[in-house]
Amino acid sequence: MLVAGNWKMNLGHADAVGLAADVVQVTADATDAVGVAVCPPAVWLDAVAERLRDSGVRLGAQNVHPEESGAFTGEVSPPMLRDLGVHYVIVGHSERRQLFGETSAFAAEKVRSAQAAGLVPILCVGETLDEREAGDAEATVLDQLAASLDGVEAGDLVVAYEPVWAIGTGRTASPEQAQAMHAAIRGALADRFTGGDGIEILYGGSVKPGNAAELFAQPDLDGALVGGASLDAESFAAIVAAAR
Ligand code: G3H
Repeated sequence: MLVAGNWKMNLGHADAVGLAADVVQVTADATDAVGVAVCPPAVWLDAVAERLRDSGVRLGAQNVHPEESGAFTGEVSPPMLRDLGVHYVIVGHSERRQLFGETSAFAAEKVRSAQAAGLVPILCVGETLDEREAGDAEATVLDQLAASLDGVEAGDLVVAYEPVWAIGTGRTASPEQAQAMHAAIRGALADRFTGGDGIEILYGGSVKPGNAAELFAQPDLDGALVGGASLDAESFAAIVAAAR
């Protein structure tokens, strides 16, 4: 099981460093049994890395540019993230897709170059409410997954299923809805890669201490990508505890 906190564009320097220290403390008993990661804003990666040193909590980035270097103002490359001690990088989050126009083809480029640099991509896929209500949820997610893995060879990879309608809304997928999609994703990964059925599939979308256990009880849920609730160390720790 893996529980990763996506802090999104939140927290100043002192609060980010403080939260990292708190997360290390409150998850210390769990990190032997559960993978734990935090993904702070890029500007705080270095400071948070320092706080995570010698702990069981891994560092993740929220985004990456596929090129190694060059004239890409404002962007951060995979080798730069590696230099900072980053382990995971979120790719293809629906906020990147919807607010910044990122395509699945661009996500696939990021997955390939992140893996080449030794990072573990957390590739996000998910349908909108309209797509779910039209009965197109599974087809949408599997199309997104296939396109976001274009040209990707077997390698370290985590997939996060995040229904767009559940992100930051307080409305989570039911355990049955999540399980059905995770099973479909696992089948697609098994078809796509040798050993693909072993790829961790996280659920994301309004995961909280109160709903984590029933989600994690589903056989194809391997953890969570947590947004809002990861900004509170106690809530995050309770979700980690539910994954044990
Ligand atoms: O990356 C995390 C997801 O977007 C979930 O966010 O837990 O605030 O709904 P949320």
